[in-house]
Amino acid sequence: MDNNKRPETMERITTKELADKFIEEQIREVREQVGDKKVLLALSGGVDSSVVAALLIKAIGKQLVCVHVNHGLMRKNESENVVELFTNQLDANLVYVDATDRFLDLLAGVSDPEKKRKIIGAEFINVFADEARKLDGVAYLAQGTIYPDILESIKQAEGKKAVKSHHNVGGLPEDLKFDGLVEPVKLLFKDEVRVVGEALGLPHAMVYRQPFPGPGLGVRCLGAITRDRLHALREADAILRDEFDKNGLAEKVWQYFVVVPDVKSVGVKDESRYEGWPAIIRAVNTKDAMSATIEEIPYAVLHKITARITAEVEGINRVLYDLTPKPVGTIEWE
Ligand code: XMP
Repeated sequence: MDNNKRPETMERITTKELADKFIEEQIREVREQVGDKKVLLALSGGVDSSVVAALLIKAIGKQLVCVHVNHGLMRKNESENVVELFTNQLDANLVYVDATDRFLDLLAGVSDPEKKRKIIGAEFINVFADEARKLDGVAYLAQGTIYPDILESIKQAEGKKAVKSHHNVGGLPEDLKFDGLVEPVKLLFKDEVRVVGEALGLPHAMVYRQPFPGPGLGVRCLGAITRDRLHALREADAILRDEFDKNGLAEKVWQYFVVVPDVKSVGVKDESRYEGWPAIIRAVNTKDAMSATIEEIPYAVLHKITARITAEVEGINRVLYDLTPKPVGTIEWE
């Protein structure tokens, strides 16, 4: 039997009871598979890797070693929240690596989006591999693979071309050998992973958080990334998310974020010339990210966001709202 194929008879996990049953089965299987060996997991803080981490903590406790790589392209407080939840609340064995300088130094001056993606993906492997080599006796590699990832790989193997290279992480270097992979949610669809996450007790906001691309803010700080523009983007994005939360939009809109291009316009502040970047808001709804529509945000909310971003974020002097659906625009600008 192909154990990467979801059996047609497999029931969809839609309730806490079904999730609890799934969790029990997986705990048994994982314990059987790994025995008393250590398991390594790259924990980004996204839904899939977080659910796998929570499940494996239940199954094997401190035998699981989580590595969280902060590539310096995370949203505001994101890495801090991962550390707080997994180390302080779930008592995980978590290694936190602040690799901001490694990533930003490599990205300096690079403006081509595909080159940026490749650098971020490759450096992620380098940092993760460096950490893995420091650890003794790790036998298994855990991954947050979900069923759409498997379906996507099949499509790519059949030669279908993608618009962007979304493959965040390539293979690990030859010298890093594992006895096997631990992929407890590989036959689940995203909605099922979320149900399992809630059954495991993960916070609702984490389980239902919007998707965030692997290269992070790196593909939203358009062109060659600079630290000051990246900082402005992160602050503006945090304000957008805060206002979406406060106005009940976070649950209604599939993905919403800020993009900051490498363009300055003339503005005025405190009666003086004030050159700054524009913050571009993107808020889209979609079922599968293949096509997307624009969400109608109430003008009052847009005004509030504009007022806050221009007042609170150094370097931003305009706020724009991108009305382009996909197609013809893609969801991300790069
Ligand atoms: P696009 O821009 O292709 O985005 O319309 C569709 C969805 O994919 C996300 N995205 C990425 N995710 N690595 C990822 O993991 C990437 O390089 C990447 N590029 C885009 C995007 O956020 C949207 O949800």
